[in-house]
Parts: sequence; structure tokens; C-alpha cells
Amino acid sequence: MSREVKVTFEPSGRGVFVLPGTILLEAAARVGFIIETPCGGAGQCGKCVVRVTSGACLPCEACYHTLSDDDVARGYRLACQCRVDGALVVEIPETSLFQTAQKILSRDSGEPTTVEPTIVKRFLELSPPDRDDGRSDVSRVRDALGNVEIDPAAMPAMPDALRAGGFRVTATLSGNRLIRLDPGDTRAVCFGVAFDIGTTTLVGTLVDLNTGADRAVSSRVNPQTSFGDDVISRIKRCRDDAHGLAALHDAVLKATNAIVDDLAKQASIAPDAIVEAVISGNTTMQQIFCRISPVALGEIPFVPAFEDALTVRAADVGLKIYPYADVQVFPQIGGFVGGDTVAGILATRLQQSEAPALLVDVGTNGEIVLANRGALTATSVAAGPAFEGARIVNGMRAARGAIEKVVFNDDVEINVIGNAKPTGLCGTGLIDAAAGLLDAGILDITGRILGPDEMPATVSRALRRRAIEENGQCRFVLVDATESGTSEALCLYQRDIRELQLATGAIRAGIAVLLKEAGLRPEDLGAVLLAGAFGNFIRRNHARRIGMLPPIPTERIRFVGNTASSGAKRMLLSRTERAEAERLCRATRHVDLSLNPDFQMEFSQAMLFPEADAHA
Ligand code: FES
Repeated sequence: MSREVKVTFEPSGRGVFVLPGTILLEAAARVGFIIETPCGGAGQCGKCVVRVTSGACLPCEACYHTLSDDDVARGYRLACQCRVDGALVVEIPETSLFQTAQKILSRDSGEPTTVEPTIVKRFLELSPPDRDDGRSDVSRVRDALGNVEIDPAAMPAMPDALRAGGFRVTATLSGNRLIRLDPGDTRAVCFGVAFDIGTTTLVGTLVDLNTGADRAVSSRVNPQTSFGDDVISRIKRCRDDAHGLAALHDAVLKATNAIVDDLAKQASIAPDAIVEAVISGNTTMQQIFCRISPVALGEIPFVPAFEDALTVRAADVGLKIYPYADVQVFPQIGGFVGGDTVAGILATRLQQSEAPALLVDVGTNGEIVLANRGALTATSVAAGPAFEGARIVNGMRAARGAIEKVVFNDDVEINVIGNAKPTGLCGTGLIDAAAGLLDAGILDITGRILGPDEMPATVSRALRRRAIEENGQCRFVLVDATESGTSEALCLYQRDIRELQLATGAIRAGIAVLLKEAGLRPEDLGAVLLAGAFGNFIRRNHARRIGMLPPIPTERIRFVGNTASSGAKRMLLSRTERAEAERLCRATRHVDLSLNPDFQMEFSQAMLFPEADAHA
């Protein structure tokens, strides 16, 4: 039998005993370090790099492909590939750690909803049994409540609750079903929680079901990111590993329960006082949350496990609120268009738009919904992880040290998240930089960074000096090595521009297909609503300049906040909204772009940047 060996992680000094053969990434996760894995642990991106400072850990083949020989000799290893051979001391560079201080959008669209929740509490003053009244406890309660169904789960606690309260009790009803009986009058304490289960972030909102008011908000990074940044990596994990689904489910549950604890603490209540939950997420996230395999979503024709809203019991999925509370899961439209999109339509009232309107949620998976005269069509595109900073040479998430804004004047100015030295470029910075380079004439519409000699005469000397030519390709220096937090220059490379073209091209082509099918031109759009974390931080004019958004005036492009959260709250607070979510889901036509002949053509056209921004 192999003996476990100790792996110590620096600089914290936290250690863990693991069996030889354990992948470094897993050893790190066991002591709570989540390492970036943008390529899903495929050994391709090099972002999971760690340094072994003591002990034996052989470099894998992928180390030699992604790291320099010098780095390998200095002990740098890919954490996703290399295995523990013996006792080790491993240093995790800050740039490899998944940043928990990310910009997480918890703000929702903020519109009020009528408060008519499924959960209702009723106070009962019952007469105790005596010689003349020998009805059972259940009959006594049922006679007082009328024709209700008694959930078997509410039965065991019923005799004690009745007697502890002197037969003065509060009944909690979910619709027509008694789910709980508490001694005394607890009507004032009635809470629900709305969850946005995102691929990258989790947001929970505690809502007072009596008043509809938000009582607390809490968010976390989705720890499933240690299994890969996008849904495809996680689907693959479920497909290839018999324990993959359980591991992913446990990871998200752990974080969701930490959010529940935090919410309860903020509102000074017990987690048990939360008697209903609503979940909104993409199809993969919703299914994993419910412990339903997402594997079919990774194979043509990309079929979700369910369409109609699903109700599961909190205890059955491991959510630590009142164990017999219902957890309502949003209905799903089809393919990768899931509950968060339905929540977005619900929250924005998209279908009521007078003029044609688009709802766009930009992420690794971009979801697009078109409303045209009350008809809804929806699609999703694989935009890839460029907006999350992955596959970008100096890319990183929107966390401390990320360049989130780039301004072009005579020279370049940048804004960095968290008052720190810059260590990389996040999605918004990437879009700003590309838009600025296009406007300056340093980037042509094919996406080629021009050399100093090819640039128009109008380009300043300071900007011209930033273009460095090497092996027939140019890179553009955004930050000199002396100013950088990594001691190396931070640049925009030619291949970064190609990644950006792929990401924006997919979104633009998806929009073009929906518009074409509806017989509309971009200028017919009365509104483009940007949802989701990334969409709410981008500069609209720059997104339009690079062709990601249609050429319409800036004032028609609006940010609508975290609609996955606001839609979930609507469903939590109102039976009517719940029925509306079901109706909207059924009324939305899903367009599968993998089968659409126009998409490839639109996509290749969308790889060219627009000549100019007509609305600049
Ligand atoms: S190389 Fe390890 S996660 Fe990409």
C-alpha cells in the first residue's frame, strides 16, 4: 500500500497528505487553493503554473510545450498535469490562483414585483384534545386549514409543535401543501432565497416573503472553476469520470451553503427559517445543481434533461435551508439556452418591447434573445473564454491587478482593478485596447497589428514606439516591464486579436442569424439590453466599434444588471411570475446554430472588424 506524502503550499504554509500520483491541482484544491484552469486542465493554456521548490515532481510533456526549458529547470510545473512523486513544497504564484476578489455583479435590474409568494404562513389557535374531542393531530390541523394536503415530511414534528405551543401554532403552506408546523406565531419570519448559479460566480439574495424586500446579498466564485472555466470542460468531466458529477455537485453545494450561512448571519436568522429557494442558471449549471447528468448537453443535438420548471426538495439536493422546503428550478428553453435566459426575459419584460429588441448575455457561452412583435427567438453561441482573459497571452479575469480600461490619446493610459500594479488584461480592457487600436489605425479590419512603418502618419510617436515587430508579427506593448506587476511587459499579441475576433464574431453572427430569420436589419432594433456580469462592465461604444454589438446609437444599448438574479427573485415572490416564466419558456423558439446553414457564412463575415463606428 502506498504511503501518503505531504505537500506544503507556499506562501501560506498550508499542507495536505496525499497519495503519490495525485495531480498537483487536486492536492491544492484539498487545502482550499483554487488554481486557474482556463483550458479545463488539458495542459494547453499554461495558466495553472506552480513552482516546486523542494521535492520530486517530474515535468510532464505538456510542461515542455507550454513553458520554457529554463522555467521547467527552475521547478515550474503545470498543476493540472503533474503528479506528486514524494513530499513537496509548492509555491503558487498569485497569478495562477483563481481570484476570489473578482468583480461579481450582484446588482439586479431592481424593478418591483407584486408580492404573492407560493409560501403562506397561517397562525392557528386550536382547541386541545379532550374527552369530547379525540380527533388526531392531523385532523385537528386539517380541519382548521381547510382542504390542504399534509406533506408527510411535516408529520414527525407535528405532535411536539402542537404541544409546545399550547395548540397555538403557525402553519407554513406551499400552495395547498402544509410543509411545516411551528409552535407559536412565527408569521413575521418568512424567508426565501433566490440563487443565480453562474458558471463563474454564484449570487444568493435573501428575500423577506412578507414584504418582498431584499434582506441580504452574498456571492462567491463557483468552485467548479477548478474543474475548468467553461461548461464544456465540466460536461466532459461528468462524461469521463464516474465520480465527476458528484464532485461538481458537491463543489457547488458547498459554496451555495456557505452563501446560505452568510445570508442568515447578515439577517440574524437561522438558515432553517428559509422556506423556499429558486435556482436560475444555464442548463449545465441547473442540471449539475440538481445532480442530473449534463452529458447529453455535450453531444449533438445538445439535449437538456428537462424543459418545464422543476421542483426538488432542499434536503434531496443538499441545500441547507429548511430541509423540506421546495427548491424551484427555472424552466429551460433548449440546448445551452437555460433558466438564466428565461429569468432574463422575465426580468426585462423583453416580449413587451414595442420595437424589436435584443437581450444579450455575453460570457463564455453567449445567449441572445430577439423579441419581435411579441415573438421570442433565442440562441446561444460559444464565444470562448477570451472575455474571461483566457487564451489571451497576458489575459486574466477581472480581478485585482487586471487592466480593465484602456484609453488611447497621444499615448496609452490604463485603469487597473484594486489599486495594484497591473498583472494582466481582462475582457473589458481587451475590448478597449482593440477598439482604440482600430480607431488609431494601428489595427486593420482583418485584425492585423500594423508595424510602425505601416501605420498612418496620424499615429503619434509614443504609440508607434509601442508596436514591436518580431518574426513578421507585431505585438503592442500596453505596460512596460518597469511598470508591470509581473516585471515583464504586458502586451497585446497578434494571436490575442484572433481570439477576440473569434469571440466577437460568434456573438455578431448569432445576432445576425436571429435578425435575418425575423427579416430585420440591425438599425431596426429599438433596444439592445446587456445582461450578466461581463455585459455590465463593457464600454458600449467600444463593443460596438469591434462589431460585437450592432451599429445602433449608444442610447439604445442599455445595461440591465444581473437579470438571472432579478428573474429568480420575481419567481420567488410571485405565483403569477412563476406561471409567466413557464409560458415565456414555451413561447420562445430555440434556434440551434450548429444546424443553421447561415451561421458559418455570417461567422466568417463577422471575423472582419467594422470599417468605422457610424455612431462614434
Ligand atoms: S495548462 Fe493547466 S489548466 Fe491549462
